[in-house]
Amino acid sequence: MVLEVTEVTKTIPGSDLEKPILDRVSLSLSAGKTLALTGESGSGKSTLLHLVGALDEFDSGEIHLDGAALSGLNEARCAALRRSKVSIVFQQFNIVPSLNVTSNISLQAKLAERHDAEWEAYLASRLGLNDLLNRFPEQLSGGPQQRVAIARALAVRPKLLLADEPTGSLDEETGEAVLSLMLDLVRETQCALFLVTHSEPLASCLDRRLHLSGGNLS
Ligand SMILES: Nc1ncnc2c1ncn2[C@@H]1O[C@H](COP(=O)(O)OP(=O)(O)OP(=O)(O)O)[C@@H](O)[C@H]1O
Ligand SMILES: [Mg+2]
Repeated sequence: MVLEVTEVTKTIPGSDLEKPILDRVSLSLSAGKTLALTGESGSGKSTLLHLVGALDEFDSGEIHLDGAALSGLNEARCAALRRSKVSIVFQQFNIVPSLNVTSNISLQAKLAERHDAEWEAYLASRLGLNDLLNRFPEQLSGGPQQRVAIARALAVRPKLLLADEPTGSLDEETGEAVLSLMLDLVRETQCALFLVTHSEPLASCLDRRLHLSGGNLS
C-alpha cells in the first residue's frame, strides 16, 4: 500500500465549527491506482491532501506513506519524505519564476538527490516541452506551465502523486490535454495518484472516487 489513512481527524485551529473538518477519515491507495476526491468548496479536500503530503499536522489517527507513519516524525524526516516519496501538483502551477524550464523540472529531484538528466529529458519530451526548455515561466501560458509542474513532480519518481485541482486554472481543452498526459505518465511510472477535482467527468476517469462531505468520506 502506498498510502494508508486511518481514522484521521483534523480540526482547524480557531474555527468554531462543531465538527472537525475531517472526522475519522480512512482510505487506502495502492501502487499504480488512481483515486479522485470530490466535495463542495470548503469541505476539506485540500486539507486532506496537505495532510497526506506531510505538509500539515493532524489531531489523531495515522497516515502511512509507503509504509512510514507520519505522526511523530521530526521535521527533518518529514522533509525527506516530502522530497522523495510524494509530489504535489497545484492548481496555480507553483513553478519557480527565476528558473528556466529545465531547472524547474530538475528542482525537486536535485533536492531529493535523485537528479537523473536522462529521465528528466524523457519527461520533458513526453510532456511536449522540448522546444521550451530555455524559457522562463513568465514566457509560458498556463498549459505548458502545468506540464512543467507535472514533469518536476514526476522527476523524483514519487510513490504518490498528489494533484489539487490541477486543471482548475486551464480552459477545458487545455485541461483535458494536460490531464491525459498526466494519467499516461502515472500509468507508465506506476505511481499512485490522488487527485482533487470539482469535475464529475474527470473523477469518473479514475479507478476509484470518494466524496468528502461533513467531515466524512463516502
Ligand atoms: N489554515 C487554515 N486556517 C483556517 N481555516 C482554514 C485553514 N485551512 C483551511 N481552512 C478552512 O477549512 C475548510 C476546508 O478548507 P479546504 O481548503 O480544505 O477546502 P476545499 O474542499 O479544498 O475547498 P475548495 O474546493 O474551495 O478548494 C474551509 O472552511 C477553510 O476556510
Ligand atoms: Mg481546495
